[in-house]
Amino acid sequence: MSKVDVLLGLQWGDEGKGKVVDVLTPRYDMVARFQGGPNAGHTLEFDHKKFVLRSIPSGVFQGGKTNLIGNGVVLDPVLFRDEAQSLEESGVDLKHRLLISKKAHLILPTHRLLDAANELAKGDKKVGTTGKGIGPTYTDKVSRNGLRVGDILSPDFPAKFETIKKRHFAQLKGLNYSIETQAPDYAEKEQEWLESLEYLKEYQLVNGEAKVNDALSHNKLVLAEGAQGSLLDIDYGSYPFVTSSNTVAAGACIGLGVSPRNIGRVFGIFKAYCTRVGAGPFPTELFDATGDKICEVGREFGSVTGRKRRCGWVDLVALKYTTMLNGVTDLIMMKSDVLDGFEEIKVCVAYEVDGKETTEMPFELSDEVKPVYKSFKGWQQDMTSCTSEAEFSTEFREYLKFIEEYLGIPIYIVSVGPDRAQTIIRK
Ligand code: GDP
Ligand code: IMO
Ligand code: MG
Repeated sequence: MSKVDVLLGLQWGDEGKGKVVDVLTPRYDMVARFQGGPNAGHTLEFDHKKFVLRSIPSGVFQGGKTNLIGNGVVLDPVLFRDEAQSLEESGVDLKHRLLISKKAHLILPTHRLLDAANELAKGDKKVGTTGKGIGPTYTDKVSRNGLRVGDILSPDFPAKFETIKKRHFAQLKGLNYSIETQAPDYAEKEQEWLESLEYLKEYQLVNGEAKVNDALSHNKLVLAEGAQGSLLDIDYGSYPFVTSSNTVAAGACIGLGVSPRNIGRVFGIFKAYCTRVGAGPFPTELFDATGDKICEVGREFGSVTGRKRRCGWVDLVALKYTTMLNGVTDLIMMKSDVLDGFEEIKVCVAYEVDGKETTEMPFELSDEVKPVYKSFKGWQQDMTSCTSEAEFSTEFREYLKFIEEYLGIPIYIVSVGPDRAQTIIRK
């Protein structure tokens, strides 16, 4: 029996998961998404082409691998159709390669309205969600009111849909959200959504947990692809400024139907700095020219919403916490090249809370949590053309070594550019 390896983000998302899943896919037989939905935007670049995947696993570009959308994912059939059709147009044989769990929950058009209404009702306390209906869909799942992919095959589907829609309309009214004035195109959206279900039916809708476990029992290798990042986890992230799923490694067990005994390596990805999109605390955030420079050089704009990502230094207190939660076996450091032009690079090694230093993640990351930094001399080297670690400068090696020693985990991969080829796998 083989095991499932898990690859996930250790910060607030957008660490570069899509790129590395694509790089590692040749080693695996199956790539499976286990949580999240179209709030994700996973970017891949190769052969001068760029793709952004939202619900489809990032293993679809590397030969005839099986890809699975697991039960832990929430699926918007309209966005799925758009994404799948554009992949089909670029020659990806998706219908043979992609399996979709019947237990994955469907995002309804009214879930998106509820997402917007909830945000409006929160006023200046809003989470800054991606507006894709993620929170309301998971809420319905947990309150046992959701619709699942497998339901679309049932003759009861229209009645179930109407019941849920009615309930959502009442909820929207309670939130003072007027469909007539605030979503005047609702009827069209609903029509489009219903039509998109016919496209979804052209796919292999399966018992996902059986497929994964069957693959493992035949010694096939499976890679589970996380979305978002551990600091956005519903339980362990900076609540309430989080997403609505378990983004940590344990989420792969729930979201694919895999026993904890069958988890193998856990690849934890982080950027050489840190970003966050949406509201919520971010102790190492920079509000100065350095932050602007990271944003500009790193092209830190959301791949889904286009929003500017907030930028700051890498936070090792947070990484120590998230590597612990996930049992990370291998670290992957992304976007090292973005810091190429910096004379000084800082790393947060502790927090100061109420005048005392701590390296433990506090209950809340309030404004009172101040980062304590250690400074490093910048490597001032063009990393983008590096092809092996032998080319790393002394300064860059020192940076890597410090992070490895602080976290007690080896950095297995260093990414030096967005392209598939700009990836250094270390010995
Ligand atoms: P994901 O959500 O974790 O898959 O990450 P995103 O795709 O949202 O954001 C990562 C961004 O950084 C994308 O635009 C990637 O093309 C880009 N990227 C990935 N790795 C590197 C790298 O090593 N260097 C640079 N400069 N860009 C990278
Ligand atoms: P990938 O997989 C970065 C953030 C949103 C918001 C919060 C809740 O590309 O790394 P949601 O729509 O999930 O209810 O929004 O989570 N968020 C992400 N930030 N990368 C993502 O995905 C994200 N998915 C959600 O900005 O702060
Ligand atoms: Mg992203």
